[in-house]
Amino acid sequence: MPTRRRRVVRVLIGVVVGVLVLGGGLAVGAWTLTRPTDTVGEVTFANPLAVPPLAPSRLDDRGRRVFDLVAQQGRRDFGGDGRMTATAGFGGDFLGPTLRAKRGEQVRVNVVNMLGEETNVHWHGMHLPARMDGGPHQMVRPGATWSPTWQVDQPAATLWYHPHPHGATEDQVYRGLAGMFLLDDDREAALPLPRTYGVDDVPVIVQDRSFSGSGQFDKTRNAFAGIGVLGDTLLVNGTVGPYLDVRTERVRLRLLNASTARTYDFGLSDDRPFALVGTDGGLLARTTRLTRVRLSPGERAEIVVDVRPGERPTLRSTPPDLGIGGLSRRSAGGADRFDVLQLRAADTLAPAPPVPDELVPTDRLDPGAAATTRRLEFRGRGINGQSMRMDRIDFAATRDSTEVWEVTNADGTPHNFHVHDVQFQLLSVDGAPPPPELGGWKDTIFLPPHRPMRIVLRFTDHSDPNLPYMYHCHLLWHEDSGMMGQFVVVDPGQAPGRPPAHADHGDHD
Ligand code: C2O
Ligand code: CU
Ligand code: CU
Repeated sequence: MPTRRRRVVRVLIGVVVGVLVLGGGLAVGAWTLTRPTDTVGEVTFANPLAVPPLAPSRLDDRGRRVFDLVAQQGRRDFGGDGRMTATAGFGGDFLGPTLRAKRGEQVRVNVVNMLGEETNVHWHGMHLPARMDGGPHQMVRPGATWSPTWQVDQPAATLWYHPHPHGATEDQVYRGLAGMFLLDDDREAALPLPRTYGVDDVPVIVQDRSFSGSGQFDKTRNAFAGIGVLGDTLLVNGTVGPYLDVRTERVRLRLLNASTARTYDFGLSDDRPFALVGTDGGLLARTTRLTRVRLSPGERAEIVVDVRPGERPTLRSTPPDLGIGGLSRRSAGGADRFDVLQLRAADTLAPAPPVPDELVPTDRLDPGAAATTRRLEFRGRGINGQSMRMDRIDFAATRDSTEVWEVTNADGTPHNFHVHDVQFQLLSVDGAPPPPELGGWKDTIFLPPHRPMRIVLRFTDHSDPNLPYMYHCHLLWHEDSGMMGQFVVVDPGQAPGRPPAHADHGDHD
């Protein structure tokens, strides 16, 4: 071989080896940097679980149940070491009170913005008119009050509320703006389920956070995942390392994943089965006995756990099945484990009736009656190739019609799907019937990559051609980055209008 050619070959080999070494090095680096978080056995459970207070309410002269919610800044010492974290909350430093109303009641919430920046409050899971929904079109200026009012007309359920300003939802929720909204009805009240708030019926709002050296919330994103912020410390109702004193044989936990990006797989430390009685939109038709329930951001599960005198089982999150492998699984939190909450059973427990097998009769929506089938593909930072725009209505659904939506995650990383106004039913997961825990009313579902989820939805009661509802990925960084769309509900024969050029800023009744 002539020397020149030999030199070229040698250089080429050098380049190839270099690339391999560099690539290998990067892979090793990425693998190390995405080392799974594991707090199992590390949490001391030194703090009693905070239970959000029930929000006081009053009846006004029109018989409406009125609540006040003040969004404000705060400071809190989460670690008990004197380092104050800058936070935000409703009527307090972090999170907000639990709102509670009964089916049939007219509610009104005075949302007072003392946050020092624009915000709003969305009633996640609530069936209500679009202008009361608290989406990005209902912004509340600093110092202003917004007072949405609507009639609660849906089954008993564990809903929640949080800000929804376009582009700033992750930030405001991360700082602490969120709370539960419980709905009651006669059917639920007739069942022998634990229901003494804060005693045997307990909100469990799970959020992951990281803290900087100075004790501030650290929102550094995992460079390899692109799913948003994954923290290494869990807060339950804002409590680090919490325990709950249990004085009854059975305790109902209302699990809410209020994290911005993390998906959990909740179960008990000894793998005992628990009774899953409800999901996002209310009670299931039948109790399902499980050892794990996976919740992606925004999802809820009501579980009833049996305890024996004196024992201390731990609510734990084990690696969730995210439908992906290797580095993407690790960097999306798919290998992480957390101790969440210790249950401390008293030495004598008040008796509690067994959880019934049959809960509430549930009508199945008929996909055969669907007026339309829509396909929504989640990819990159958009849906169907488009990024969210405040002035674009993506489609119109007709009031009193049924639709089938086929929602697909076309990426190799996790997304989930949430829609406003309605609770839907899952028809199939990649062509197969859904597992029982996904068989009830849902408003948020995890989207494993490349497995189409078919859902059926029915739009009733409220229509407005101009003001849209949102559908989006509830990984809040994705939502903020444009993975969101807008639909309106129109009357039969009505054409969709245009969203107002500027958000409505409240200040009126
Ligand atoms: Cu929980 Cu559109 O949000
Ligand atoms: Cu919502
Ligand atoms: Cu997403």
